Amino acid sequence: MQNISVIGAGTMGNGIAHVFAQNGFSVTLVDVMHEQLDKALVTIGKNMDRQVSKGTLTAEAKDLALSKITTSTIVADGVRNAELVVEAATENIDLKLKIFQQLDEAAPQGCILASNTSSISITKIASVTKRPHLVIGMHFMNPVPVMKLVEIINGYATNEEVTDKIVSLSKTLAKVPCVVKDYPGFIANRILMPMINEAIYSLYEGVAGVEEIDTVMKLGMAHPMGPLQLADFIGLDVCYSILNVLYQGFGNQKYAPCPLLVNMVTAGFKGVKSGEGFYTYTAGSKDLIVSDRFK
Ligand code: CAA
Repeated sequence: MQNISVIGAGTMGNGIAHVFAQNGFSVTLVDVMHEQLDKALVTIGKNMDRQVSKGTLTAEAKDLALSKITTSTIVADGVRNAELVVEAATENIDLKLKIFQQLDEAAPQGCILASNTSSISITKIASVTKRPHLVIGMHFMNPVPVMKLVEIINGYATNEEVTDKIVSLSKTLAKVPCVVKDYPGFIANRILMPMINEAIYSLYEGVAGVEEIDTVMKLGMAHPMGPLQLADFIGLDVCYSILNVLYQGFGNQKYAPCPLLVNMVTAGFKGVKSGEGFYTYTAGSKDLIVSDRFK
């Protein structure tokens, strides 16, 4: 495989384009908004600069990688020569189903269609295409250039040969692939989200404060971020929506989102992206300041 198209130029899309380009693939980054594509190219350049300053990428390799990325605002144009499409659009089922119908019509026969979805059923996504055997989940973690894992999700109809190709492709990207089956939350979020939800319940019930909860998990369990900081980083709206997928998918009360999380999302407190969640984020600052609401 040489030609990869990435759909969606947000945080995950630009990270995925970054790692493919850095590993020698030709990448077409597709987004309906010009500004989003421009912003993504600037972000990729800045993230590669971090690697250059750390000595993990040369300036020449950075220029070569950037020259491998082209952009398009039209899906049909952007996937015309693709051998693999990785969809990383907003986590919304109706939007993803619409995109996969478009991809199925426009992408060449034999092109593999992958989704970076964090929780939507691959089997469901595959069912709106005429090539369900070529549809698979390729779940990268944020920040994509740093995180080693690719969770690979086999839909009910995914062909074994396709899985093998995606496993070996992930290794080419210097990632570690893990193949899992298509059940709600797969593995990553089936385990991560209940932990985050339990941390929010502990705060809601007054067992401990934000700093204490995160410090216990950071220093006690060697997690790089505490669960409340991680929830802010992922986006509280995303956590809420994944918990709902687990809750509805398994029909089990244990996955019900904590009422505090529901309130925060309803009020627009979504974490880093909105400027406030469990912590308050001021532009450019790396300091972790607990939100006044939890002091
Ligand atoms: N691109 C390239 N490099 C990056 C980067 C990016 N976007 N972001 C950070 N880095 C690099 C930095 O340059 C730095 O490199 P060195 O180690 O060589 O110095 C390194 O990553 C660490 O970065 P920082 O020093 O800025 O900050 P940090 O030490 O606090 O690490 C972090 C930041 C990597 C994000 C770390 O806090 C971490 O691992 N957090 C947990 C992340 C996590 O759990 N992600 C999964 C979220 S769940 C998900 O994505 C899936 C889902 O479905 C919800």
